[in-house]
Amino acid sequence: MNRTESILVTGGAGYIGSHTAVSLEKAGFRVILLDNLCNSDISAIEGIRSLVDYDVPFYQVDCRDKESLGDVFQSELENGTPITGVIHFAALKAVGESVEKPDLYKDNNIGGTRVLLEVMKEKGVSKLVFSSSCTVYGEPENVPVNESSPILPAVSPYGFTKQECERLIQDHTKRVTKQTFQSVLLRYFNPIGAHPSSVIGESPKGVPNNLVPYICKSAAGLSKPLIVFGTDYPTPDGSCVRDYLHIMDLAEAHVSAINFLFDKSQINRPFCRAFNLGTGVGTSVLEVIKAFEKVNGVSVPHVLGGRRSGDVVSIWSESLRAKSELGWYTKRSLEESLKDAWNWQKKFI
Ligand code: NAD
Ligand code: UD1
Repeated sequence: MNRTESILVTGGAGYIGSHTAVSLEKAGFRVILLDNLCNSDISAIEGIRSLVDYDVPFYQVDCRDKESLGDVFQSELENGTPITGVIHFAALKAVGESVEKPDLYKDNNIGGTRVLLEVMKEKGVSKLVFSSSCTVYGEPENVPVNESSPILPAVSPYGFTKQECERLIQDHTKRVTKQTFQSVLLRYFNPIGAHPSSVIGESPKGVPNNLVPYICKSAAGLSKPLIVFGTDYPTPDGSCVRDYLHIMDLAEAHVSAINFLFDKSQINRPFCRAFNLGTGVGTSVLEVIKAFEKVNGVSVPHVLGGRRSGDVVSIWSESLRAKSELGWYTKRSLEESLKDAWNWQKKFI
């Protein structure tokens, strides 16, 4: 395969980064993985390598370490495979933890993005896809949200870091005039599930914060019963509502975004374009539990608990812009996502 573009994937050992790396490779891009492994494991890199026909390079580097990050760009340049685009996943993402440790979140997420932009500028790399989140909309007044919905005050320090990183990238796009900086902000809703091969999946370190990994552990008897965080919200069944999409649909959205950036490179103008990535359907926590039990034929031990600090009540996506401009939309169902999540978990029972 003729791999003309080399894409640096920061946070490449993580959940979304690892699945995206596989989709990029399959679409013909050369991938370079970077991660400090603070929330992931080297086995994810081995999993990626086993799924593609190429010995994907991996650098264990922290994005805030400017010198080491610069060295990654330099060594790839010297190898004759200069990095031409970056997908920036590397960040801390636990909403609850961010409430307890706001400074850590600011330093890691905003600091890492700032250093990456500086290095990209120095190395003349001008195409960036950023992992943003629906959290930038705060607690929305109306759902579904589209890209023109107001950016309301962040509900958590994690949300604040995503808003701030978006602002940094927008400013960078305007300021860096020597290069034509082109960027895409992908506002994910809730990715779940695993690669259908079960070779890679979601393996957070410690107790999972996200709903579906916790459901899986609870169903497998590997953790305490799941606590449903809040059943007194103003929603049809009292639990929070989110927009859950299959991880492979999300991975493929990154290929569409990279293609979009490289297509637009013919146009010599800077831009920063935001896209929502979701299914367009809201599902409650209690509905996810029921669907998981039905599709997998297992019960999910759970208890009804109090609200989690920093949680938004209800949010789901209107993703029409992604469909019309990126040609992307979700193809897999909630049931398929929950089946793939459980197949991945079963490897560890
Ligand atoms: P993840 O924790 O599985 O992956 C993030 C990876 O980044 C981890 O492997 C971690 O070790 C690495 N990392 C963190 N800080 C780093 C640093 N300073 N330098 C180098 N590596 C670092 O999380 P994920 O679910 O794959 O999320 C990826 C991105 O998508 C994050 O930016 C997250 O905020 C964003 N996002 C995730 C979700 C979600 O529900 N999973 C939703 C919206 C947005
Ligand atoms: C949040 C952010 C998202 C972010 C992601 C990364 C919002 C709207 N979304 O997702 O942008 O990138 O975190 O982690 O802020 N739940 C339980 N019990 C559990 C775990 C979760 O009931 O043990 C509930 C939560 O209260 C929530 C839903 O499940 O209502 C989904 O939670 P989670 O998977 O953590 O994702 P979000 O908080 O929606």
